[in-house]
Amino acid sequence: MSRTLLIVKPDATGRNLIGHVINRLEKARFTVVDLRLVRLTKDQARKFYAVHEGKPFLDSLVAFMSSGPAVPMVLEKENAVDDLRLLVGATDPKKAACGTVRNEIGVDIEKNSVHASDSDENAAREIAFFFS
Ligand code: CMP
Repeated sequence: MSRTLLIVKPDATGRNLIGHVINRLEKARFTVVDLRLVRLTKDQARKFYAVHEGKPFLDSLVAFMSSGPAVPMVLEKENAVDDLRLLVGATDPKKAACGTVRNEIGVDIEKNSVHASDSDENAAREIAFFFS
């Protein structure tokens, strides 16, 4: 078993899709082992996305991520990081494969409904960020 982090982003919480996302995860045999509802400050959002410092989309991303409630959760499954990235799909919902979460409910490349850790190392760092 391994663990990864998923965040239901403000565009999805604002459309009452928290339960829908969790349902998709559980149907795909992920187990939710920890979960919170948070309202990130701009500072917290910038810290979480520090790896994107200097990118042109960062300021807008920080404003978006602090615009409403978000739901970070720790998920457990064999091969959790890779399986979750397959389930959520490509960053841009328009490019995400049919049947993926972002293809289904994502709005655009920024408001793409969910974040998923991209490596075991980042999963550990991101889980520690929300669940110390
Ligand atoms: P996420 O997987 O959370 O990682 C970084 C986030 O930045 C991404 O999802 C999007 O919400 C946002 N973003 C906005 N524009 C871009 C872009 N051009 N490339 C990558 N990520 C972007």
